[in-house]
Amino acid sequence: MDNTHIKIQGGVPLNGQIEVFGEKNSVAKIMVASLLSDKPSILRNICHVVDTELMTNVIRAVGGEAEEIEERVIRIENKDIHNMDEKTLQEVVGKSRVPILLCGPLLARTGEAIIPALGGDIIGNRPVDLHLTALKKMGAKIEEKASGIYLKAKKLHGRPIRLDYPSVGATEQILMAAVLAEGITQLSNAAIEPQIMDLVVTLRQMGADIIFEPERTFIINGVNSLSGYDHTAIPDRLEIASWACVALGTNGKISVTDARAEHMRSFLDKFEAAGGAFTIKDHGMEFWRGEDVITPTHVETDVSPGFATDWQPPFAVVLTQANGQSIVHETVYESRFGYVEALNKMGADITLEKRCRGMLCRFNDEYYHTAIINGPTPLHGAEIEVPDIRAGFSYIVGALMAQGTTTVTNSQILNRGYEKFTEKLQNLGAQLL
Ligand code: EPU
Repeated sequence: MDNTHIKIQGGVPLNGQIEVFGEKNSVAKIMVASLLSDKPSILRNICHVVDTELMTNVIRAVGGEAEEIEERVIRIENKDIHNMDEKTLQEVVGKSRVPILLCGPLLARTGEAIIPALGGDIIGNRPVDLHLTALKKMGAKIEEKASGIYLKAKKLHGRPIRLDYPSVGATEQILMAAVLAEGITQLSNAAIEPQIMDLVVTLRQMGADIIFEPERTFIINGVNSLSGYDHTAIPDRLEIASWACVALGTNGKISVTDARAEHMRSFLDKFEAAGGAFTIKDHGMEFWRGEDVITPTHVETDVSPGFATDWQPPFAVVLTQANGQSIVHETVYESRFGYVEALNKMGADITLEKRCRGMLCRFNDEYYHTAIINGPTPLHGAEIEVPDIRAGFSYIVGALMAQGTTTVTNSQILNRGYEKFTEKLQNLGAQLL
């Protein structure tokens, strides 16, 4: 086994306890928020995944200091910042989606922002039009080139902004642009994922004036300057749900330290509907299969507080073993079923449809965004290649449930979302060859 593939002998229940740390999609953004201030910030409970390392390098490349001063505690200080030089910019190109969020801090502190061409999983087109429309409305001059996005603004101005869709990234973008803008920004139809609330708590600790109103609305009254923060990132609800799926799929029992039920209510409802069981403890949760069989389930992904799209692939794999037909309707990304072909190769019976099943979504009749899963179908080993983080974890769940040996190639992609996942698998009793 090298770091580009993993071989799993399936059919063994996984049991034991694992630790989960800060959510990857929260840690990297809160690191960006530190750039809004010239005062030091402390971020605790960081995860060691690619985006954390990348943002550490980006902060250093724009003139800041970032250092892990003790285990999982990073100190960041950005006294004087500037844009990245061309060489560093090229190193960051295509590696992550997080750099798009540098717009607000770099514009506020330097008057211009150069954003490298973005990376991230290929699970849809993933445009950034909502980000750029909002920044333009706030007064930024924007030029898009093949190498990246170039923005200029002496000062951003608060404006009423209504998002056409409650995008997580666009909400984070506008929050970080508005906190130091002149005047009031009323942001409506905003995303309210736990990671957004984590960012808002942090920004408020820095001295931002942000009020949360009903109906997905934030009122942000720009201030002149912000101080640093001392914040503990929320645990990774996406990773926790992935391990819960392992427990349900392999008929094992897995405890996850620091798991918080309040961040994953809609996952837990579907987990129980499919036959999963859990207990909530003082410092975590425990997951297992509570019924003899897995029950077919209808799942629709949605923005928070709905069933998160990142929970979908590992959960869908478990449904291949349900006693009947399950339906998974993906409404966040137009092509998040890139993993289905590989599962069918392993023996699953999944077909994709263009029509919506349940609520009508913006992908109706245009994209294959609904999966019909007929179960139970025994899975057998195969050689399969990871296309993206969550699909990759779904292959791991499939391999653990299958009879025989599965070789998962391109498995290094999993390191982007799952810290030390092979070590965790081994600790839970997985048979890695
Ligand atoms: N969208 C637009 N225009 C925009 C922005 C988004 O059309 O300007 C669309 C996207 O194409 C997509 C939908 O809106 O169809 C949702 O995108 P969103 O902006 O909410 O997602 P994101 O900020 O790009 C983050 C996470 C994703 C997670 C989504 C949804 C990070 C780095 N990524 O992406 O995480 O799936 O929110 O919760 O925070 C993962 O962890 O594996 C992952 C993909």
